[in-house]
Amino acid sequence: MDIPKQPLLPDEFPGAVWYGDEEIEAALRIIKNQSPFRYYGPHCNFEVAQLESEFGRFLSSKPGANWPEQSALHVTAVNSGTGALEVALDALGVGCGDEVLVQGFMWISSISAIIRSRAIPVLVDSDDTLNMAPEAIRALITPRTKVIMPVPMLGGCARMGAIMDVVRDINKERREQGLPPVRVLEDCAQALGAHAYGAPGAVVPAGAADVYRVGTFGDIGIFSLQINKNISAGEGGMIATRDPELHRRIEALHNAGYAKDSATPTNWYGDTPLGWGHGRRMSELQGAVARAQLRKLDAILANMRKSHQRFEEHVRRLGMTPRARADADNPGDTGYYCLFRLPPGPTDDAEKIARGRAVANALAPFGLHPWFLHDFEVHVYYNIKPLMEKWPVNNGCPWKCPHNAFHTVYGYERGTLQHLDEALVTTLGINVPSRLTREQEDAIIAVLEYVYKTVIR
Ligand SMILES: Cc1ncc(COP(=O)(O)O)c(C=O)c1O
Repeated sequence: MDIPKQPLLPDEFPGAVWYGDEEIEAALRIIKNQSPFRYYGPHCNFEVAQLESEFGRFLSSKPGANWPEQSALHVTAVNSGTGALEVALDALGVGCGDEVLVQGFMWISSISAIIRSRAIPVLVDSDDTLNMAPEAIRALITPRTKVIMPVPMLGGCARMGAIMDVVRDINKERREQGLPPVRVLEDCAQALGAHAYGAPGAVVPAGAADVYRVGTFGDIGIFSLQINKNISAGEGGMIATRDPELHRRIEALHNAGYAKDSATPTNWYGDTPLGWGHGRRMSELQGAVARAQLRKLDAILANMRKSHQRFEEHVRRLGMTPRARADADNPGDTGYYCLFRLPPGPTDDAEKIARGRAVANALAPFGLHPWFLHDFEVHVYYNIKPLMEKWPVNNGCPWKCPHNAFHTVYGYERGTLQHLDEALVTTLGINVPSRLTREQEDAIIAVLEYVYKTVIR
C-alpha cells in the first residue's frame, strides 16, 4: 500500500470545522452591540445567560428528541474547562485534608485542579471502558474522601449508573456513621453529549433509572469548549448541577465570590459574600459562538457515531477488541476516537511498548492521528512528572500541609493501577472526524487492514 501524498483524514477539531455563517453572525452581533461583557454593556444581549439556559435544556434532552422547554439543571458558563473544575471543587468545599478519587487516564487539569485546591488526588483503576471502574472505588474510600471524579475519556462513558449505585451505598453507610456524603464531580470535558444509563444523584436518587447525558449523574458535571472538544468557542467551560444550593455557590465563586440572593441585587456581582471569587466569567463573544455551536452538536455527534461504528466493526472483524462501551445503545459514547486493543502478543513489558509504538508509527504516515496510549502525553498519570514527583503549589502545599500528612501512603508511579497500566501498553486509537465521506471511511478501513496484516499480526 502506498503512503498517500495527502493525509487521509482531515485535521479534526469537531466544533471548529463546523464554523460557518451562524458563528460569524453571532460574533458580529456582539461586536456591533459593543457589548462583550456578560452582565452589562451598551446593548447587552445576555448571550452567556441564554447559553446557560439552552445548555441545561440540551443536557436534559433524550436521544433523538428535541430539547425540552424547561430543565431541572442549573448551568454556569466559565472561561475554560480547567476553571470549571477549580470552581466546582471550591463549591464542593474541597480543601486541605481532603482526598479526591480520580481515574489515572484523564487530562492533567483533572489532577491540577485537585492540587490547586490543596487536596490529595487518589488514583482509581480503570475497567475495559478505560474509565473509572465502579468496583475499584469502595476500597479507596476513607473518612477523608470528599469527591469522586470520573473522567469519561475521548468520548467514551464510564459505567456511570454503576458508579452512582456504589456512591449511594457508600453514602448510606456514611450517614449512619455521621460522616458527610461523598460527592461526584464528572469531568466531561471530552464527552459532551454522550449518554449513559443509570439513576442520577449521589445522596438520594434525583430521578428514575433511565438514559441521561453524561455530566448529569453526579452532583456537578463540567465541560470544556476548547478547540479539541465536540463544540468550541476557542476557550470556555460549562458547569451543570441539579442542586440549587451548589448552583448558588458556583455562580458566586465563578465571579467575585458574592451570591445573588435577591431578584434585584444592588451590585452586578451580587450582594451576599460567601467565599473568594475565581474571576472565571465567560465573555459574550464566547457565549454567542457557543450558542451557535450547541445547535449543531447533535449533528456532529451523529456523524462521529456513524463513522465510529464502521471502524469499530472493522477492528472487531480483524480480531482485535474495541474499547468497551458502557452503554452501546441509547446511543452511548460520542464516537470521537476509535480505540482498540492489540491481539495477544508479547508478554514482556518492553516488547509490548515497542509493538505499540511500531503500530502507531505505521498508522501515522496515512494521517490517521494515531495514539499509542502509553505515550499519550499528560493524559496518563505516570507521564505527569509534577504528579509523580509531588510538585507543590506555592510554599509546599498540598504535600507539606500538616492536614495532608497522610499523603505519604499514596504514590503515582507507573505500576499503581494494574488494569489501566496493562490497557495503556496494549491499546491504540485513531481519531474519528465528524465529516467523513463514505470513501474516506473506506480508505481508513483499508489502512487499518494493511497495518494489521503488515505490522500487528
Ligand atoms: C478531561 C479534561 N478535563 C479538563 C480539561 C480542561 O479543559 P480546558 O482546556 O478548557 O481548560 C480538558 C481539556 O483538554 C480535558 O480533556
